[in-house]
Amino acid sequence: MHLSHIGINKLCFLVSLALCAFLLLLIPTLQAPPRQGDRLPPPPRPHTKPASAAGRLPSGGSARSNKTTVAHRVTLDESQQTRKESAGAEIRSLKGDAGAAAAAAAAQRRYSGSRSRDPLEPKDIFIAIKTTKKYHKTRLELLFQTWVSRAKEQTFIFTDGEDKELRKKPGLNMINTNCSAAHTRQALCCKMSVEYDKFIESQKKWFCHVDDDNYVILPSLLRLLASYSHTQDVYLGRPSLDHPIEAAERVKSDGSVSVKFWFATGGAGFCISRGLALKMSPWASLGNFITTAEKIRLPDDCTIGYIIEALLEVSMTHTHLFHSHLENLQRLPSNTVLDQVTLSYGGFENRRNVVSVGGIFSLAEDPSRFKTIHCLLYPETEWCPKKSRP
Ligand SMILES: *[C@@H]1O[C@H](CO)[C@@H](O)[C@H](O)[C@H]1NC(C)=O
Ligand SMILES: *[C@@H]1O[C@H](CO)[C@@H](O)[C@H](O)[C@H]1NC(C)=O
Repeated sequence: MHLSHIGINKLCFLVSLALCAFLLLLIPTLQAPPRQGDRLPPPPRPHTKPASAAGRLPSGGSARSNKTTVAHRVTLDESQQTRKESAGAEIRSLKGDAGAAAAAAAAQRRYSGSRSRDPLEPKDIFIAIKTTKKYHKTRLELLFQTWVSRAKEQTFIFTDGEDKELRKKPGLNMINTNCSAAHTRQALCCKMSVEYDKFIESQKKWFCHVDDDNYVILPSLLRLLASYSHTQDVYLGRPSLDHPIEAAERVKSDGSVSVKFWFATGGAGFCISRGLALKMSPWASLGNFITTAEKIRLPDDCTIGYIIEALLEVSMTHTHLFHSHLENLQRLPSNTVLDQVTLSYGGFENRRNVVSVGGIFSLAEDPSRFKTIHCLLYPETEWCPKKSRP
């Protein structure tokens, strides 16, 4: 009896000793906010600017044509750029983004090194390319030759017409959405709806949507997404306007009140975490996306922003690492081009709008600059000139 009493005392002593040791080990993890410069970078945010009434989109204007939307966006993007340029802010903001990407990469290396978190792999990303039959031979061919060749398994082509030759390409995922080939709001929303459903089915961690005139710099995309968690609510993209858009609320109410929300411009590409995509389901899955878009009468990319910001109350993470042909691509400093996540090209005939990267191929050989970018990223590619190899 006496002996066992001592035994219990000893046991208690040992248990408390072990507890103390355990608590001591925990101290570094429990320490509140880590020092500046030692934590994951904040998501890149552009400088917030006061909303201007001039750019207000007609809320739910049913008569608004696609052309008006595009023209409207071009005007806004350009006026935004002029303001930025006069403030000398564009270059700073681009450098800041490139710096943020590098810091995110470094943070990710530290993060995955010190904690047991699954590192993000290319196969975890679902990349949807929206196209139309008219562009299979021209635009898509260029993508197959360049970045898609490095990401066949996770790239899915959403188009509107059968193409036997495209089907024959080994390892390529082509989905005929059976949507109309017209460039109308309805047809575009129909494709987005199929993209969403296929992503949910895929079980992948990230949904990224791009257009058939985008170059995706895969290492940058992986670095950017790796700095976030796919289980959290993440909506990453380039704001199309410099202020949120306003639309009549016709989903939660009768349209008598309006809502303000940001949206990522579809032409530059955007990404959504699986966690957030699952929450979008009531308004996005199995054709509900089309219903939602019809209610608010806005294009596909605006509808995505509406579901996320207005209905789910999740804020979009603004990044200037995504680029569409609606901005002046020449303004991107040459030394930051390879740090971007998406690039684009436009207007060969009258007004060329391409990123400025020199060497390797001439403008005549490579009008979009995508081949040049590809050879700078992957000099070992067989069709890249030998002299560009290190
Ligand atoms: C979009 O443009 C096409 C022609 O480019 C036109 O036929 C169509 O009516 C427009 N869509 C909407 C929703 O206004
Ligand atoms: C489009 O139609 C074909 C033929 O009816 C069908 O096999 C395919 O699944 C459809 N695509 C989608 C995305 O529903």
